[in-house]
Amino acid sequence: MTDLVNVTRTPSSVEIELNRPTKKNAITSAMYAAMADAVQEAEADASVRSVLISGAGQAFSAGNDLQDFLSGMGDDNPPVLRFLQALAGSSTPLIAAVQGPAVGIGATMLLHCDYVVAADDTVLQFPFVSMALVPEAASSLLLPRIVGYLRAADILLTGDNVDAERALELGLVTRVVAAGEQVAAARAFADRVAAQPPAAVRLTKHLLRDDTPGLDQRIGTELTLFKDRLQSPEFVEAVTAFMEKRPPRF
Ligand code: COA
Repeated sequence: MTDLVNVTRTPSSVEIELNRPTKKNAITSAMYAAMADAVQEAEADASVRSVLISGAGQAFSAGNDLQDFLSGMGDDNPPVLRFLQALAGSSTPLIAAVQGPAVGIGATMLLHCDYVVAADDTVLQFPFVSMALVPEAASSLLLPRIVGYLRAADILLTGDNVDAERALELGLVTRVVAAGEQVAAARAFADRVAAQPPAAVRLTKHLLRDDTPGLDQRIGTELTLFKDRLQSPEFVEAVTAFMEKRPPRF
């Protein structure tokens, strides 16, 4: 079986590629576990100067695997939690190269990144409310911090798409490039960071994002509500409708 997450070590970085293109890189528990391991290992290795996350195929990620959602989130420390805590606690610069749909956690993981290159066909989607869920990955804290409260409320309450141009305007991505060039542009930034003094880079990131405890707490609060929502009839209808390719009936 092909690996659903490819982890590649370059001389100065770790590259994590979601590799489930036939399912638009929807992320399963096993994939979260592989990603969490890679981010944690990178954090423990001082020779890793950045972590670059990308997705194979036409979509960055369709978010959490919906089938996995239907089976609940399992134990108290699900791999998604480990992955999110690894992102929130990373002092290594996190870089993302995004194209096509970036949905749910495919969008919220970007809020933890320090440099986001978006292909011009990128569409960020935060459809938590539309799916009868609540925001996760501390996005209820980070999104208003980045775009302002009213814009965050608009995005989260409507679930409207945010295209590449709008994402750039809102400060959700660093730059927009032609589709197909996003990984090369992200690697160029990784090379620039690798040439900088590593201790100064890590300390600066720490100063810029000096709120890991607050993020961890919000990730936990959101997760408790999220798990409850997964049991709700509204959510079951939202997912069933998606699987049956029909509009939901709430
Ligand atoms: N979980 C599991 N499977 C998913 C998935 C997900 N989150 N997103 C897409 N897929 C599957 C589809 O079921 C489909 O499988 P099939 O070929 O066996 O029927 C395949 O991936 C392709 O998806 P499709 O919807 O046909 O692609 P598209 O290009 O028309 O649309 C998306 C792409 C990402 C916009 C759309 O798939 C989508 O909205 N997905 C759901 C996203 C979501 O709600 N995520 C959770 C947020 S909390």
